[in-house]
Amino acid sequence: MSDFLLNPHLDRSRPYGPDLQAILSLKGAAEARAHISNWAGYAPTPLRNLPTLATRTGVAEVLYKDEGKRFELKSFKALGGAYAVDRLVAKRGKDGLVVTCATDGNHGRAVAWGARRAGIRAVIYVHEGVSEGRAEAIRSFGAEVVREGHNYDDSVRASAEAAAKNGWQIVSDTSWPGYETVPRDVMQGYAVLAMEAEEQLEAKSSEVDAGSRQDFASRNKSAKPTHVFVQGGVGGIAAAVLSYRWEKLGAMRPKLIVVEPENAACLYESAKAGKVTTVTGDLDTIIAGLACGEPSILAWKILEPGADAFMTVTDKAAIAAMRDLAACHVVGGESGVAGLAGFLKAAADPAMRAALGLDATSRVLLYGTEGATDRAVYTELVGKTPEEVEA
Ligand SMILES: Cc1ncc(COP(=O)(O)O)c(C=O)c1O
Repeated sequence: MSDFLLNPHLDRSRPYGPDLQAILSLKGAAEARAHISNWAGYAPTPLRNLPTLATRTGVAEVLYKDEGKRFELKSFKALGGAYAVDRLVAKRGKDGLVVTCATDGNHGRAVAWGARRAGIRAVIYVHEGVSEGRAEAIRSFGAEVVREGHNYDDSVRASAEAAAKNGWQIVSDTSWPGYETVPRDVMQGYAVLAMEAEEQLEAKSSEVDAGSRQDFASRNKSAKPTHVFVQGGVGGIAAAVLSYRWEKLGAMRPKLIVVEPENAACLYESAKAGKVTTVTGDLDTIIAGLACGEPSILAWKILEPGADAFMTVTDKAAIAAMRDLAACHVVGGESGVAGLAGFLKAAADPAMRAALGLDATSRVLLYGTEGATDRAVYTELVGKTPEEVEA
């Protein structure tokens, strides 16, 4: 199984201690939630039940936290980039503040959106692989878009250089030695996602999934998830959802499996090598949001001791997962469904199933981190528009 790795560095007996709490904490998540829930248009995103997929994969339940309608941005990234912009404005004031970042699409959109809300200038760097539709979405929030470099990591460097030259503030979703405060705020914002999901599970939400006509209340919701499959780019969202449950539940937390595209699997390679490892090349994948070659060092500090497994998926598997989800009347973008693609792959493979303990009693939680963030790409890959899928 060269595309699957049980984490050799996992230490399930390790408590979520002060060293990890200094990165992400329940307290920080509560602060982020208190702040973000005051933004106009805030509402927890739906937790959808996908019984057809549960039956097909032979597990008890498949739940999908659907970020497709998160604010105007259609992705969970709104929670991170815009929160970090607000934190920066609160610390430094708006005067002369210009924010910049690199992006595969969603993070730049979040920073641009946050900058517009705060009334400050944003300059967003995209690489040549970012679709024009995604660049245009960033411009629609009033940001300047600069195209530079072959891949995400090139554009990270380009925005850092421009920031140093012009005195701009970098609002990056990835961290590196000496640059940790802002990406920590970004990840802490993401933890709101885990917090909402936890509350929805705990409250035995009676939400009706209008899209898939599945009544969540009619299912047995008392049981907690046993497995969480979450996609990894630089590792920020995976670290955020892991940290939340680790600090809350300790060793009783569900298993967390990090899923990456096969051509950009920097977290998988880091786990294999036992140290932060960079994947080079053009990181060519349609799973654009996850096309990252360098892990976030802060995220890695949480994932290395705490994630249960790492695995990769192909572009083909992501497209199939988009279509499977569309058949349930749920819209998920290429990057948003990577965790689902990973789960479908693991569930169909007896060796992975056994390694992860996936069986008829398993309750699987997926984070659908984006909807149709590029409508044209979505429609081409699924063969239907997002509206047709939701109808
Ligand atoms: C939709 C989507 N999901 C997941 C991720 C991965 O997040 P991270 O880079 O924090 O691992 C991204 C990153 O841009 C994304 O856009």
